[in-house]
Amino acid sequence: MFPKTPPMGFNTWNTFADKIDEKLIRETADAMVETGLRDAGYEYLVIDDCWSERQRDPVTNKIIPDHVKFPNGMKAVSDYVHSRGLKFGMYSCIGTRTCADYPGSFDHEYLDAATFAEYGADFLKYDTCYKPAAAPSHLLYRRMSMALQATGRDILLSACNWGMDGVHDWIRSTGAGMFRSTGDIHDSYECYKQIFLSQLGNFAHNGAGCFNDIDMLTVGMYARGNAGLTGCTDIEYRTEFALWCMFASPLMIGCDVRNMNDFTRELLTNPRLIRINQDIECRPPFIAVHTEKDENNVYVRLLSDNEIAIMFTNLGDEEGIGTWLAFEDIGLPVSSGKALALTDVFTGEYAGTFREYKSERVKPHDCAFYIAKIVDAE
Ligand code: GLA
Repeated sequence: MFPKTPPMGFNTWNTFADKIDEKLIRETADAMVETGLRDAGYEYLVIDDCWSERQRDPVTNKIIPDHVKFPNGMKAVSDYVHSRGLKFGMYSCIGTRTCADYPGSFDHEYLDAATFAEYGADFLKYDTCYKPAAAPSHLLYRRMSMALQATGRDILLSACNWGMDGVHDWIRSTGAGMFRSTGDIHDSYECYKQIFLSQLGNFAHNGAGCFNDIDMLTVGMYARGNAGLTGCTDIEYRTEFALWCMFASPLMIGCDVRNMNDFTRELLTNPRLIRINQDIECRPPFIAVHTEKDENNVYVRLLSDNEIAIMFTNLGDEEGIGTWLAFEDIGLPVSSGKALALTDVFTGEYAGTFREYKSERVKPHDCAFYIAKIVDAE
């Protein structure tokens, strides 16, 4: 499956880990519809690790759903998810076991792909634990990709190998539609900051067809659940979401969407942030202002419809650091006779028209984020 824009959805892992069952998935599907997440573009509901029995069926050799968590089998769950206008995602692993020690798909790729297709899966997250040392990752991702293709069903392969084995260079050729480029996220400011900064050299390895996945969002977790850790402030969640949108990462929600507060719901459904993330041209951002430790960088990204996204960051802890974006440095000298009309991405309000530069004094862990249009200077 070739996604044209970053895939969007929900994944059970960050909050629920092994505490998953049919009731949770049904309630999550309902919540995705009722809160407006589905209509905002979050279409995949993905069940992560811990959904199966510990061993394969001794007769058929198939992976089988846990009979307590999913007493009606996976097709029933998938049918319900589809009935709510959503797509259904499953999880497995290139190794002999999954990361949480359930059966993996190594050497069973074609059988398992057929099983997932029978369930009606539209998405497969494919992890890297328990990989036999002699088997190269790229071959194992190719195998599952071929196996999914052989089912005849359009299933998005979400490769999860944590940025190892030079994955940026070969993953696109495997047929995967997205790939994890970092280790696991946890719900803390320092964690998502390091994850984002680790990909500054990889902006160009992200585009239509195969998106660089900087992991599931922690927005709205407030330290609850499996990946809970310290939690973040609302401003920090806002910056996290803004960075993921600017970078064009897939947007997989990790909080409990049945219990989101208004701030979380409004942030995750902000139409301007999603418009930037989902821009059809999928151009990478560039670093327009490069600062020490990359903590006060300014990022600029060309969008479709002659729009431009501009983001001022302060990922450090210092108050009062001013940054300055000279438009000349992004290709708009004063001699052009043009100016930039800015709209605040968070509020949707007009923020003024600027001819030579825009400066900002961003509070620690916050960001200033604009959509700009090129207009004639007055
Ligand atoms: C790995 C992945 C996580 C999650 C767990 C499940 O750690 O990176 O995203 O899928 O496995 O066990």
